[in-house]
Amino acid sequence: MPDSTAQHAVAKQPTVLVGVTGCIAAYKSCEIVRGLQKAGVRVKVVMTEHATEFVGPTTFRALTHEPVAVGLFDDPSDPIHHISLAQEADVFVIAPCTANVMAKIANGIADDLLTTTALATTSPLMIAPAMNVHMYENAATMANRGKLEMRGVEFIEASEGYLACGDVGRGRLADPSDIVTAVLARLGIAHDLAGLRVLVTAGPTVEPIDPVRYLTNSSSGKMGYAVAEAAARRGADVTLVSGPVALQPPSGVHTVRVRTARDMLQACEEAFKDTDIVVCAAAVADMRPEVAAASKLKKATDAEALSTIHLVENPDILATLGAAKGRRTVVGFAAETDDVVANGRAKLEKKYADLIVANEVGYRKTFGEDTNTAVLIMADEEVTLPTMSKRDVAERILDQALALHERK
Ligand code: PMT
Repeated sequence: MPDSTAQHAVAKQPTVLVGVTGCIAAYKSCEIVRGLQKAGVRVKVVMTEHATEFVGPTTFRALTHEPVAVGLFDDPSDPIHHISLAQEADVFVIAPCTANVMAKIANGIADDLLTTTALATTSPLMIAPAMNVHMYENAATMANRGKLEMRGVEFIEASEGYLACGDVGRGRLADPSDIVTAVLARLGIAHDLAGLRVLVTAGPTVEPIDPVRYLTNSSSGKMGYAVAEAAARRGADVTLVSGPVALQPPSGVHTVRVRTARDMLQACEEAFKDTDIVVCAAAVADMRPEVAAASKLKKATDAEALSTIHLVENPDILATLGAAKGRRTVVGFAAETDDVVANGRAKLEKKYADLIVANEVGYRKTFGEDTNTAVLIMADEEVTLPTMSKRDVAERILDQALALHERK
């Protein structure tokens, strides 16, 4: 199992400059921008004048929260804008790139902001072409491509199919998620969960006694949120079902807020059918008061009800999903005060999980902390992790879950 800790730890937020040229596929650049942002990348956009016929700079400004320049002299505060853009970029990807812009860059022509920036950049340049099949196969285009490849420009191959002009052949912009994966690979960022749907539970559940009192536990949600965030960064489509916590929902994650175990089960069952990997990190209350009083219980009149709260068992979300998992990969946790590994292994079988993350809990131990010391328990293997940040534990859990999923 590769140690992904270093791989995922990006010291400085990388910046990708996305160049958009005048092509019907320009709208797909929005998806590329979002995909890169989801992976934790800062994105800036530069457009050609013709690109603005297809998508407005306002759209990219709203998506990136960055200024979007088109003309060489658009930004009066930056008289040499093409140089600052070129210097900021860790990767410059032009997607979609027309035959015209390819030709200009191949021949050193720099007559607008995008092509001037391409000439000025010393960072890796990547080109995702998109055009009519005959333009694509034209000897001039092929020669331009050859020239650019000789200079180290990386091409993200156009795909074959039905083209906007009605022709069929090669010339469709590569799938935006493939472009994102290629750019992230160039940056050294893993995107190995692309195409997978991951469901994560996090935080405590809250089981009402009356409108103001409840049973709960001290889960902060940090562990589950770290898993959701890491999965999204690695390209997964993530649904996070969260009990009440004080954390901000991770960006790019579909977050469903719930309170009780029964609400959490319902939200999980709704997301489950479209899920590939499930990670149940929530601290679900095992029991709930049989009756939640409609009004606040009073000491004077409801002493009996307050002193003897009758509890009933909550549904076991992990076991329910585990029993119905089919080809899905199911990861559960085991929060233990004693015999952590033995109890964790028992839960692996009892809850039909493929992997149990066993961790010791107690006062100021794991609950609410930023670190965790966990053992990953699988049917035929155990991996004891040293104490590490919950973010790093999350990466290790996802590494194992993906390996298990690929074996199914
Ligand atoms: O949220 P943090 O402050 O970051 O703390 C992290 C954590 C301690 C909550 C987390 O690391 C953890 O251990 N989560 C699981 C807590 C728990 O409920 O463990 P358990 O051993 O009681 O349950 C075993 C598994 O069954 C868990 O995956 C749990 O989500 C699941 N379960 C339990 C009861 C229930 N009714 N339904 C369930 O799905």
